[in-house]
Amino acid sequence: MDTVSINHRGQWSTRMAFILAAVGSAIGLGNIWKFPYIVGMYGGGAFILVYLVFILIIGMPVMMTEIMLGRRGRQNPVGTMQTLAMQAGQSAAWRYVGWFGMVAGFLILSYYSVVAGEVMAYVFRAGSGAFDNQTADGIRAILTDFVSEPEKLLAWHTIFMVLTTVVVARGVRLGLERTVRWLMPALFILLVILVGYAMSLKGFGQAVNFLFEPDFDKLFYLQDAHGKFVLDEAGQRVFTWTPVMVAMGHSFFTLSLGMGAIMVYGSYLGREASISRVTLAIVAADTLVAILAGLAIFPLVFTADLAPAQGPDLIFLTLPLAFGTMPGGSLFGMLFFLLLLFAAWSSAISLMEPAVAWLSENRSKRFDRAAAASWIGVIIWLLGIISVFATSGTTLRDVFESVAGWFGIEDARFTGKFFSLNLFNIIDFATANIMLPLGGLAMIIFAAWVMRRESIQAELAAERTFVLTLWRILIRYVTPLAIVFVFLYRLVPHPSSA
Ligand code: PHE
Repeated sequence: MDTVSINHRGQWSTRMAFILAAVGSAIGLGNIWKFPYIVGMYGGGAFILVYLVFILIIGMPVMMTEIMLGRRGRQNPVGTMQTLAMQAGQSAAWRYVGWFGMVAGFLILSYYSVVAGEVMAYVFRAGSGAFDNQTADGIRAILTDFVSEPEKLLAWHTIFMVLTTVVVARGVRLGLERTVRWLMPALFILLVILVGYAMSLKGFGQAVNFLFEPDFDKLFYLQDAHGKFVLDEAGQRVFTWTPVMVAMGHSFFTLSLGMGAIMVYGSYLGREASISRVTLAIVAADTLVAILAGLAIFPLVFTADLAPAQGPDLIFLTLPLAFGTMPGGSLFGMLFFLLLLFAAWSSAISLMEPAVAWLSENRSKRFDRAAAASWIGVIIWLLGIISVFATSGTTLRDVFESVAGWFGIEDARFTGKFFSLNLFNIIDFATANIMLPLGGLAMIIFAAWVMRRESIQAELAAERTFVLTLWRILIRYVTPLAIVFVFLYRLVPHPSSA
């Protein structure tokens, strides 16, 4: 890597600017859309507890590692991994960690943008008063109407991708700092107001129990949408490990870890900042917002007698109920969805940044930032079309049937659970719960066992000794073993139990 291109890279104006950008990356749909829906699906309090443990023993050390690697390498994740590996006299193949992360970023952004598009549409729905005095059924009808038209979803997805691409094309520093500085606190205040409203509902107590009273049976045994245990032929409850995998995957997803976003932001961070302190600030903000979102949404679920396990539709079915009944609700609802849109936007920017940094810093110098961003934006936009159709109800069965149809096979039957899967869910599951943990695992193994000790020491000079020791123990033993255990335990056969 030549020094010129390194020196010409942007740097955050202050340590605060880095924290803001990283918080902007971390806080997004993951906190307000995804966290509540997975908590609802996977059993409430016990799930949250496991998730918090993963944030502590996996999320925090991986975040420190990612920032450290990025700041040491001062390039895009591909270049960073390659340079650091070669400095340690190791194989340049470590750059594939960067590649893998970029692919994960493409896939995540492809469906993230479709959900963000729905949020954008809901800014207008809320503002138009469409939710006023609606019943839960009315709200559901509005959502069904909306998602049944793929061209509308596609239009919103397109607008969102254009907005994201434009910011990334102009470079991370321009605008982003300012946007995050004002909008994140505003989102936080609106969430607090929503929680205040939720406290006045009769379902609030039930929601608090659901969120904070861990019931491990609900974590480990399969339930239907209404929270009833599923029984096998012998009348036994069915063991499931999926919730634990999802909790781990979400600790990566919500903190933007494992794919290079935080690494590339770390590469713009000044040398003097203490990495453990900025990590703590980012993690605290992210976790607080997720818990507040849960406290705002579940009282609505229980008050309206909805099933908690609605899946990805949860916020679009619950929040409008609140906006429809609270005084000034249409204005408030519009503002809320608008701020959520900005939160999604700042996350989307970070999902694209590793690939754009890579393409524009590439030795070939064939692409400037704007060209790099445009090409990558187009690819992600195309990938997003899969999620557009999946969101409007297309399953794998439909896909297979049409493909069979093209070959003139009209009576092909695709039965079985597999074919009722939806590609949106598959991409969401595979990226968050498999790709991000694998990426994070590779990064900590690299930092723990491959990288030069002196490089690490130079980078972590500002840390207190006990923090350093703790971090080292975590990334050497605890964190990798935890990740590997979560993966492998899924493969162990489990007897059902009563
Ligand atoms: N952390 C973001 C959110 O919670 C999503 C994200 C994942 C961003 C991975 C970057 C990388 O919405």
